[in-house]
Amino acid sequence: MTLGADRQPMRKLLEGRVALVTGAGRGIGRAHALALAAAGAAVLVNDLGGDFRGEGASDAEPAEAVAARIRADGGRALADAGSVADWESARIMVERAVSCLGGLDIVVNNAGICRFATVEEMSREDWALQIGVNLTGTAAVCHWAAHYWRSLGPRAGRAIINTSSPAGTNPVAGSPAYCASKAAVAAFTVAAAAELADLGARVNAIAPMARTRMTLAVAAHEEAMRPVESGFDRLAPERIAPLIVYLAGEHCRFTGRVFGIEGDDLFVFEGWSAEHHFNNGRRPWSVEELERALASVDRQDRGYYIAPSKRIAGPSPTDETLALLERARRER
Ligand SMILES: NC(=O)c1ccc[n+]([C@@H]2O[C@H](COP(=O)([O-])OP(=O)(O)OC[C@H]3O[C@@H](n4cnc5c(N)ncnc54)[C@H](O)[C@@H]3O)[C@@H](O)[C@H]2O)c1
Repeated sequence: MTLGADRQPMRKLLEGRVALVTGAGRGIGRAHALALAAAGAAVLVNDLGGDFRGEGASDAEPAEAVAARIRADGGRALADAGSVADWESARIMVERAVSCLGGLDIVVNNAGICRFATVEEMSREDWALQIGVNLTGTAAVCHWAAHYWRSLGPRAGRAIINTSSPAGTNPVAGSPAYCASKAAVAAFTVAAAAELADLGARVNAIAPMARTRMTLAVAAHEEAMRPVESGFDRLAPERIAPLIVYLAGEHCRFTGRVFGIEGDDLFVFEGWSAEHHFNNGRRPWSVEELERALASVDRQDRGYYIAPSKRIAGPSPTDETLALLERARRER
């Protein structure tokens, strides 16, 4: 038994394993890195050190500080300031974990950025940066980890945990590129799980919700994100980390799944499923037949979501979404 990141007793479930956590200098990723280290893993702490929009100069300090904290607590850790969006930097991250920490067993693709711009407002850069960090960054690190594992052959105990979002599982107005990147991470996770099973690697994704600089920037979240004075702080970033340790553990059997987590709420997503099925009796559909068949499901009450637990009904943007868009416009 040892003390975990939130000073709770934690078993050394991951003793002798090596983890790579991207975007681990701040927020949710920082808590993941500390929890994995507290569970016994050596950690390559990656973070480019930019702002949540993917702007500004890069800064090695956040990753260095987390690695130093792990070492001060008696663990093994190394900092890395490469960008996950760069295919070659992703290769170097994997190589550094192997050469400096002795291998690679666990990959947590957490690095992400978010920009608020509607379909009309977004620039090519808004689109490319979010897809580049959130989706390409996830794919690149998985690619190089898979190469490394293939070179060693099958071995049990390998795990990848990707980071989707409630905005990917239940998209919202205001950040379509972010939603698309996070939905794609979920799809990528399911496909990668099927492909990497023969290497003994399980691949899952989380859709977290926590108080970080990213969510604090969203006007719609301000009230919910306020720290609590006392008692259970359900939106602290540390609330997500136990799920990462669980999914990384050798006893975990899940693969190809997406788990939502927000404080004390845990969700298991079942992916896209057809809620309605019609068959036209071995005849092609005519436009009129389609119209008749679909009339029974032509409803506009599916609603918007800002989090798995907070469904906002109605086909139009809500006041919260409009407030978010207004604020994002002012900040541009
Ligand atoms: N906070 C939430 O409620 C929430 C909700 C859904 C999804 N997420 C996702 O969780 C992850 C962590 O978000 P957070 O809220 O902790 O945000 P954050 O901004 O606090 O942390 C993200 C970290 O990623 C790093 N990063 C950004 N681009 C990078 C790159 N190219 N290479 C390496 N590192 C890079 C940043 O420097 C930062 O330290 C993100 O993928 C985010 O999309 C967060």
